[in-house]
Amino acid sequence: MNTEHKPWAGRFTEETDAFVETFTASIEFDKRLAPHDIQGSIAHATMLGRIGLLSEKECKAIIQGLEGILVDIERGDFHWSVELEDVHMNIEARLIDRIGDAGKKLHTGRSRNDQVATDIRLFLRTEIDLIIEQLIRLKIALIDLAEREADAIMPGFTHLQVAQPITFGHHMMAWHEMLNRDCERLADCRKRVNIMPLGAAALAGTSYPLDRDLTAELLGFSLPSANSLDAVSDRDFAIEFAACASLIMMHLSRFSEELILWTSAQFGFIDLPDAFCTGSSIMPQKKNPDVPELVRGKTGRVFGSLFALLTLMKSQPLAYNKDNQEDKEPLFDTVDTLQNCLHAFADMMPHVRINREAMLASAKKGFATATDLADYLVRKGLAFRDAHEIVGKAVRLGLETRRDLSEISLPELQKFSPEIESDVFDVLTLEGSVAARDLFGGTAPKRVREAARLARRKLEGAKKS
Ligand code: ARG
Repeated sequence: MNTEHKPWAGRFTEETDAFVETFTASIEFDKRLAPHDIQGSIAHATMLGRIGLLSEKECKAIIQGLEGILVDIERGDFHWSVELEDVHMNIEARLIDRIGDAGKKLHTGRSRNDQVATDIRLFLRTEIDLIIEQLIRLKIALIDLAEREADAIMPGFTHLQVAQPITFGHHMMAWHEMLNRDCERLADCRKRVNIMPLGAAALAGTSYPLDRDLTAELLGFSLPSANSLDAVSDRDFAIEFAACASLIMMHLSRFSEELILWTSAQFGFIDLPDAFCTGSSIMPQKKNPDVPELVRGKTGRVFGSLFALLTLMKSQPLAYNKDNQEDKEPLFDTVDTLQNCLHAFADMMPHVRINREAMLASAKKGFATATDLADYLVRKGLAFRDAHEIVGKAVRLGLETRRDLSEISLPELQKFSPEIESDVFDVLTLEGSVAARDLFGGTAPKRVREAARLARRKLEGAKKS
């Protein structure tokens, strides 16, 4: 493109170097912001019309022109030009082509600096709402599973060693809690995203009497930004989102890790639907948990984007710097990765089938009721430390004779402590053990059903409000 046609042609005597033009352009990726750019421009033009800076006719022409451009873009009938650098200048140039001089007035009282900050905020607000929808789908799937499998016994682990018996439903509700906090964090982040930069102009505000409250209202922003320098320069809201996204991915990655372990022949706790797995081109017996593996793998790029954004911001003097153009690719990638991972999980979880027998057999293997025996002795009047030691000896006998605690005879157990009576076998069963953890937040099937009910009610309440 000839320098004559650049908006800054007046000041320049030389054309932009061809490589620099491509190097500095963002159109390849920021064209994705077009619907939001147009939405922002329509609100800005409407406001300019209301305060009398545009005639009614000009305002109408601009809005119709922008709406027409959006239709063209959606149809794929728009030529994006690298010479016009970014989404903002491409759309503005097309508007001027379409409607003539009125189009040249759209940029009154505005800069690309407050324009792009507005676009990203509109984009992110939309995406946060979509991500929350996916999180809710996944939460519902977990609540359903928890209810269905509230009394399915499995081993609970610490250090990946059998610790105490728990219920599968309880385990699912643990994941639900994590995702619930993730939802809350995103909703909180959204409040800080939903602030309107327009009116900040290049950095100092503008001398036109813009009605910023009106523009904010038209765009559904809760408030106009309180400081123009801050509004055009900081991307902390994007970093905050990337941090929320990283936490979600960290959770999904841990979740994936468990699903992968549980589908292995060594555990055999669950079966993932065939539709979410792949086979091997060489080993006919294989069914690989590709979806959770890929989710675990994709976590890295989201963490990477968080660091890219933090690093992008850390040395920038106020106010806007071109560095900020680099916010888009990590942000877009974060949004897409998160959406896809949540989508896959929300689709997959309702089809997970559990193998109760395998989980039960595994829970029987690791002396999972040892704590229950100690608690039993405490109820009979022993101090917990003494009880702990007695049970330790019983476990050793079990190890030596390859028996579970419940398989050791009463007289043998009584050698360790005369306090042990025949009622001991009630607590040595896995069912008795989980049922005994009957307190708020505990693993007893009754409590799991209660937790699922509460979670469902909360979700339904949130839907209504
Ligand atoms: N493409 C730019 C970005 O993404 C738009 C803002 C450009 N502003 C400027 N003063 N060069 O940040």
